Amino acid sequence: VDENTPPETLESRTVEAVAKYIKDGVRPQRIVVMTGAGISTSAGIPDFRSPDTGLYANLARLNLPYAEAVFDISYFRNNPLPFYTLAQELYPGHYRPTITHSFIHLLHKKGLLLKLFTQNIDCLEREAGVPDEKIVEAHGSFARQSCIECKGAYPRELMERAIKEKTVPHCLDESCNGLVKPEIVFFGEQLPEAFFKNKSLPTEADLVIIMGTSLSVQPFASLPHFCRDATPRVLINSEQVGDLGSRADDVLMLQDCDSGVRKLAEACGWLEELEGLWAET
Ligand code: APR
Repeated sequence: VDENTPPETLESRTVEAVAKYIKDGVRPQRIVVMTGAGISTSAGIPDFRSPDTGLYANLARLNLPYAEAVFDISYFRNNPLPFYTLAQELYPGHYRPTITHSFIHLLHKKGLLLKLFTQNIDCLEREAGVPDEKIVEAHGSFARQSCIECKGAYPRELMERAIKEKTVPHCLDESCNGLVKPEIVFFGEQLPEAFFKNKSLPTEADLVIIMGTSLSVQPFASLPHFCRDATPRVLINSEQVGDLGSRADDVLMLQDCDSGVRKLAEACGWLEELEGLWAET
């Protein structure tokens, strides 16, 4: 490719090359996908760090010492109210998956998905049809809630009522009376067992696709390093992140996820099937 090739031609040729590799070079169940909040912004859920629109830029009303305190376990222990004020907006249930979520489902339907690692707690991958056994929710989810002291489980309907009424739920065991929290991973907490059990899977991947994440939170952000050098890493994200672009076979599609997955699906000859799948969500 000579230096005066216009960037868009360069990119479309690269997308063609990725599509050809997906069709001819990827063995069954050998694509690993890694996602963050950027794949849900077009569903109406703000991401965390985008200037102006990101969640962390809009928490002034909570008078936090710093934005990420709302998800910090030691801050929560002293002052759980900011989280419960925000929890109502974060609670899954009234958002539709995006075409990017459907693209991950399509990879599974085509027998190509080895594992999806997501940082998101909105459960939209599940709602799009990605089966449970293919998903690692690295930062937990709202699926369960428990006492942060005795770890005792807490009933879902009581949690839903607390979130609706913006009250702070406490452990049902009076002798404990600890604070109850959904099992989303706060700063200062361990990631779920499933993350550590599966974190070597990228070394088995023939292709890795990273979408909608700033790769700014460890240990999730280290996943892309576990890929073999020979494994192409495709980044579909508004901006370059992590060390993507530093390896010969890295492919950067610096654009919004929904248009990036449409381009990739079209190059694979899957666009109509993808649109149809998404229409069913
Ligand atoms: N298309 C493509 N990229 C997008 C889009 C979009 N529609 N919207 C946002 N982005 C990009 C942003 O430019 C940014 O690079 O997605 C990335 C989102 O980054 P963050 O807001 O930091 O979200 P995420 O990477 O998921 O945050 C990681 O931080 O607060 C913790 O636990 C929380 O899981 C979260 C973790």
